[in-house]
Amino acid sequence: MPFGADGFLGTRASLMLDVVALAMLVVVPVLCLSVYLVKYRRQYALHKTIQLALGSALLVTVVLFEADMRLGGWRHRAEASPFAGADGSTDWVSVSLAIHLCFAVTSAVLWIVVIARALRNFPSPPVPSAHSAWHRRYGMAAAIDMVCTAVTGWIFYYLAFVT
Ligand code: HEM
Repeated sequence: MPFGADGFLGTRASLMLDVVALAMLVVVPVLCLSVYLVKYRRQYALHKTIQLALGSALLVTVVLFEADMRLGGWRHRAEASPFAGADGSTDWVSVSLAIHLCFAVTSAVLWIVVIARALRNFPSPPVPSAHSAWHRRYGMAAAIDMVCTAVTGWIFYYLAFVT
C-alpha cells in the first residue's frame, strides 16, 4: 500500500486523503438515495443492502486512512497553507480538523450502533417492526451526522491542502 504517497487531485494531499475525499462524494448521494428509497418507496431490503455496503466501505476507508495518517502524516503537507497559523494567526486547519473529528467520531459510533441494532431487531428480510421508531430517529441522526462528517472533512481538506 502506498501510504504517504502523493495524491492524484493535484493538491498537496496524500493519495489516501484524495481517495477518502472522493469516496465521500459517492457516499453522500448514495446515503440520500437509500433514505429516500426506504422513506418514500418502502424498499426495505434494498435500503438494508445499501446501508451494509456503505458501512463496510466506510470501515475499510477508515482503516486505510488511519494507516496513511499514522505512517505518512499530514502536517507537513498543510505547512504551506495560509490557514495553518504559521504567522501566529489562528490555526484554522487545526480548528477545522477538531470540528471534523467531532462529527467523524460520533458518526462512527452511531453507525455501528444503528447497524448492530437494526440487524438484531428487524426481521430478515427487513420490514417495519417495534424497532422502527428508535431506528427512524437514530438512523436519521446517523445519516445527518455522516453528511456533516463529509462536509467538514471537505472544508478541512480545502483549508489544509488546497489553499
Ligand atoms: C447506519 C446505517 C443505517 C442508517 C443511517 C439508516 C437510516 C434509516 C432512516 C433515516 C430511516 C427512516 C426513513 C423514514 O423517515 O421513514 C430508516 C428506515 C428503515 N431502515 Fe434503516 N438505516 C440504516 C441501516 C439499516 C439496516 C442495517 C437495516 C436492516 C437490517 C435497516 C432497516 C430499515 C427499515 C426496515 C426501515 C423502515 C422503518 C419504518 O419505516 O418502519 N436500516 N433507516
